Amino acid sequence: MIKEGQVEESKETTHLSVIDGAGNTVSVTTTLNGSYGSRTVVSGAGFLLNNEMDDFSVKPGVPNMYGALGAEANAISPGKRMLSSMTPTIVLKDGKPCIVVGTPGGTTIPTSVIQSLVNLVDFKMTAEDAVNKPKFHHQWLPDEIYVEKGFDKSTVKALEAMGYKVVEWEQIGRTELIEIKKGNAKPITAIADKRGDDSAEGY
Ligand code: DON
Repeated sequence: MIKEGQVEESKETTHLSVIDGAGNTVSVTTTLNGSYGSRTVVSGAGFLLNNEMDDFSVKPGVPNMYGALGAEANAISPGKRMLSSMTPTIVLKDGKPCIVVGTPGGTTIPTSVIQSLVNLVDFKMTAEDAVNKPKFHHQWLPDEIYVEKGFDKSTVKALEAMGYKVVEWEQIGRTELIEIKKGNAKPITAIADKRGDDSAEGY
């Protein structure tokens, strides 16, 4: 018998970073948007419809469920553009994929992806550190900087001294990243974010 209960539903977005034996890569982020999407199951097909309309702006000055603030350009009408943050990314070097990356996380998606890339490319971190080191996030409004536990304390102090409000957040993104280094003894490194129950598999 199936009974009702308190089921903890995880966040609604999933990201996959994939590479095959021939070097083809796929970066895909798929989402229901909100919890259970529109809460409508397609009869006979068994899947939920999303509520992605929330990524448009219902009216100027009213943020969506992730706090993203749009205007006329993002209205729910033809020819307008939604505020989606989804950022499935493939970085090319000499025309060939060298990094495959993406994450769920609403408005924190682009900040998680860019920080992972900057960590890897500019700060020369390992792929594992690039994904797992504490991240920060700012999305214009609310005018606050979110940092994960373990974020460098001196940086937080310096930001606060400049007048920024810094708020600790439990989790910023769940980034799945593949680094491809042609010519290396171990050319593929796949990192599953330790923030979640993510996994990296090779076949
Ligand atoms: O497209 C967007 O930006 C949102 N629909 C993404 C929602 C999301 O990542 C929620 N889960 N973590």
